[in-house]
Amino acid sequence: MTRDDSEQLIVQEVAPRDGLQIEAKWVETQDKIALIDGLSACGFTRIEAGSFVSPKAIPALRDGEAVFQGIARAPGVIYVALVPNVKGAQRALAACADELNLVMSASETHNRANMRMSCESSLAGFAEIIRITNESRGVKLNATVATAFGCPFEGRIDEERVVSIARTYREMGVEGVTLADTTGMANPRQVERLVSRVLEHVPAASLTLHFHDTRGLGLANVLAAYGAGARRFDAALGGLGGCPFAPGASGNICTEDVVNMCDEMGIPTGIDLQRLIALSRTLPALVGHEVPGQVAKAGRNCDLHPVPDYVRTI
Ligand code: COA
Ligand code: ZN
Repeated sequence: MTRDDSEQLIVQEVAPRDGLQIEAKWVETQDKIALIDGLSACGFTRIEAGSFVSPKAIPALRDGEAVFQGIARAPGVIYVALVPNVKGAQRALAACADELNLVMSASETHNRANMRMSCESSLAGFAEIIRITNESRGVKLNATVATAFGCPFEGRIDEERVVSIARTYREMGVEGVTLADTTGMANPRQVERLVSRVLEHVPAASLTLHFHDTRGLGLANVLAAYGAGARRFDAALGGLGGCPFAPGASGNICTEDVVNMCDEMGIPTGIDLQRLIALSRTLPALVGHEVPGQVAKAGRNCDLHPVPDYVRTI
């Protein structure tokens, strides 16, 4: 591994899934496809392009099949689909998703609110999903521990439980593990501690951190996780996002804000910030409201402004 490889921060773009799932305004299938193709042109190697969940639970993403069929598969890009159950996995495999992202919450209560089943039922479903996915050669598996840093219903989540779920996923044969801070309850010290512990069981190349900026700690948590050895992060263009079944949920950490921070700090991401900002600026028209991201509004540090005439005369 070269120095650059080990320093690289890999951003998985999740706006087409986490970002759009909570939007009230219907986004046309062709616009979703254009967004995903625009993202692949920015240099992402991983894009969560949709979910195959109940259309009653998440109407905004009910066109998953058409989206996966319509996107231009850019070489080297892994197109991920979130799935909650066996039916979702069958749909995702039929739609030729490159990777399935299974989700269960560390909080029993949030899992019942989000997935309408116990954690035990989720895991039983995962065993079957893993079996059918392994029959589709080359399809990768990731599993998310949602509410890993806190739950809007239960509050504090036992770190031991999160570590144990991560280990269970790996023992079941799932390569990738995501720790998700579903409603932005994590703080940097907690992140550093939990990431260090989970990295004892999951290699950095397989571990993803998924932060929401609900309480303004998103980028601080990214740096804490990076410092502890994590290298893969979910983020959403414009800072869109949120789980409709978690009260108080708000946007993911904003991709262009993360990439801007990395560019300024000299951490390689492989993502073209200028293109990303241009794409982010199309979001308000797409979703019908302003989006939280800051760098798309402020511009990059190097986007200098013309000096006003009065300054020249001083
Ligand atoms: N895709 C499409 N339809 C699905 C489905 C899937 N993955 N899973 C279930 N359904 C359908 C069933 O076919 C059934 O349809 P019918 O009413 O026409 O017969 C209906 O949904 C109910 O099925 P059931 O298995 O009883 O599901 P449920 O109502 O208990 O809900 C989930 C369970 C997991 C399907 C649902 O809670 C869900 O999709 N949750 C995901 C929420 C989410 O995406 N959160 C944000 C991301 S973390
Ligand atoms: Zn999320």
